[in-house]
Amino acid sequence: MSADAIDAAKRLAAARAADLVRSGMKLGLGTGSTARHFVDFVGEKVRSGMDLLCVPTSEATRAQAESLGIPLTNLDATPELDLTVDGADEFDPAFNLIKGGGGALLREKIVASASARLVIITDRSKQVERLGRFPLPIEVLPFGLGATRRQIERLASAAGCSGPIDLRRSPAGHVFVTDGGHYILDCAFGAIPDPARLAETLVSVPGVVETGLFIGMASAIIVADPAGVEILGRL
Ligand code: A5P
Repeated sequence: MSADAIDAAKRLAAARAADLVRSGMKLGLGTGSTARHFVDFVGEKVRSGMDLLCVPTSEATRAQAESLGIPLTNLDATPELDLTVDGADEFDPAFNLIKGGGGALLREKIVASASARLVIITDRSKQVERLGRFPLPIEVLPFGLGATRRQIERLASAAGCSGPIDLRRSPAGHVFVTDGGHYILDCAFGAIPDPARLAETLVSVPGVVETGLFIGMASAIIVADPAGVEILGRL
């Protein structure tokens, strides 16, 4: 698919998710190029008078939502949300996800876990039989980075995963810092035999803040391609 076709598919998936939004809902707003379309649709709904209260999953999404006049809150004032709509970097047949390509995985996971439903919007290119083609992002504390990386290597290898682990950098070469002030290690493990086991073992490392593995969190996935929209799971 061309870049334009992929973007059109992302917008189509986002439009279908926007149909789920009802007045009075408390929404989690995802991060990334697909979620961006969804936030645009939410902005249109607010402009047309719909009563919505939203929690953004990143500073980038906050800025977009503010520019569209979307009423925002946080999880202290509003700890339970009705629905979060977000993108993903990969999803498998069991709806396990890799997220964090945009670096927002921690807030995305916190917001998703505070939501009654997580609906993923994506183009067809993210669909895989087994997670791991996309390097797994792991959010880590800057303190003790070298030791944390070694422990990740050791535990991942025991879980059947090995490959290069890169500290994420910006295109200008600076170390990428998340909204929470952490670093990201991108782990090119290839196919992950047991994503749930890997997620569990990795968060046992003290320097690991969270992983981009979202296990059993998505209730539905809206996948779009030039042929149209497919709904996986129940909306
Ligand atoms: C942001 O940290 C990510 O989890 C995104 O949801 C994911 O990378 C998908 O991004 P795109 O919609 O830009 O592909």
